[in-house]
Amino acid sequence: MQFSKFGEKFNQYSGITQLMDDLNDGLRTPGAIMLGGGNPAAIPTMLDYFHQASDEMLANGELIAALANYDGPQGKDAFVKALARLFRETYGWDISEKNISLTNGSQSGFFYLFNLLAGKQADGSHKKVLLPLAPEYIGYGDAGIDEDIFISYQPEIELLDNGLFKYHVDFEQLTVDDSIAAICASRPTNPTGNVLTDEEIHKLDKLARQHNIPLIIDNAYGLPFPNIIFADVQPFWNDNTILCMSLSKLGLPGVRCGIVIANEAITTAMTNMNGIISLAPSSVGPAYANHMIEKGDLLKLSTEVIKPFYQQKALRAVELLQQAITDERFRIHKPEGAIFLWLWFDELPITTMELYARLKARGVLIVPGEYFFIGQEEGWDHAHQCLRMNYVQDDEMMQKGITIIAEEVAKAYAG
Ligand SMILES: Cc1ncc(COP(=O)(O)O)c(C=O)c1O
Repeated sequence: MQFSKFGEKFNQYSGITQLMDDLNDGLRTPGAIMLGGGNPAAIPTMLDYFHQASDEMLANGELIAALANYDGPQGKDAFVKALARLFRETYGWDISEKNISLTNGSQSGFFYLFNLLAGKQADGSHKKVLLPLAPEYIGYGDAGIDEDIFISYQPEIELLDNGLFKYHVDFEQLTVDDSIAAICASRPTNPTGNVLTDEEIHKLDKLARQHNIPLIIDNAYGLPFPNIIFADVQPFWNDNTILCMSLSKLGLPGVRCGIVIANEAITTAMTNMNGIISLAPSSVGPAYANHMIEKGDLLKLSTEVIKPFYQQKALRAVELLQQAITDERFRIHKPEGAIFLWLWFDELPITTMELYARLKARGVLIVPGEYFFIGQEEGWDHAHQCLRMNYVQDDEMMQKGITIIAEEVAKAYAG
């Protein structure tokens, strides 16, 4: 069969597809230890809450109304309005329903945004999205309709006490010129758990404004929901910021709801793209989230249930890893948010691609670090020495998985 150029590009077996396949295979393979995918944890309190909310919404007709009707292309009116009010009241942001559009998951929101801004321009030039710091979220990697739409920069590495380290944006290196269409960063970052500091965000905002390009902040794990963020930082938005959020990490990845908070021009563009590509975004997630806002539960559950759950899990995973792997070449990125730990095995004689294959053969799924160095032109040893591990599994699974990782890493260093 002959595919178009678009068809060829999107028919690739990309990193993100491999990840989703592994997740799917792992979920069906008895005994597999899933430290790879990005599925949020099944938090019992949240599952009970969704159960109860479903009963209430079934009884009051909201659930059937969401199933049986199309929303408009911008997304469910009631939710968009409630969300605008929530942000105004919580943070004093000057926004209304004209600043919010919904997509079928924030992943498709990024596809829209990147292709709206980057790639071949009307004047024939080619623009890229600047990722100030690689490693960055694997899901951006293949999202361009045109090839080569990202440029990224290696971070500064700060070595911290207790076997930890932290990445910082190296502002000396960043070059923003006419070839840059937007700046984008996930905060908290998937895969590393890094949280860009308030100072870094303000500097990026200034840089973006100076060059008249938007700053895209991927807030899939951030404030005020799901609030999987342990660093003491402020959320950020202004009319030059495109803040992307999601219901997935609240525990609702199946409803596929992404939220884009931006100026009116971007909101109109997203709405128009929704109309062409999906008619309308799904109504079900927004119906649940609207219910949660009306009851005053959205921010409360994020702060009182979701955040402490993940924070405690992150600390426990660091403890288990540091007990199991005592080699001083091993470091962990300081866990400041998101649902992953980023492990660095300095001087590892094999790539983490190879380590991934060895671990998979023993039933442990992690994600090799190489995938996350999107937009990098130069080779960098560090990119072959890191891996991403999620910490949402129960303690027994975590211990088993970590024991196997420790054995394979020791073998690799010895060999
Ligand atoms: C940083 C980041 N952004 C965006 C997404 C996409 O999430 P969704 O499409 O489920 O909203 C993810 C999913 O894991 C993520 O980790």
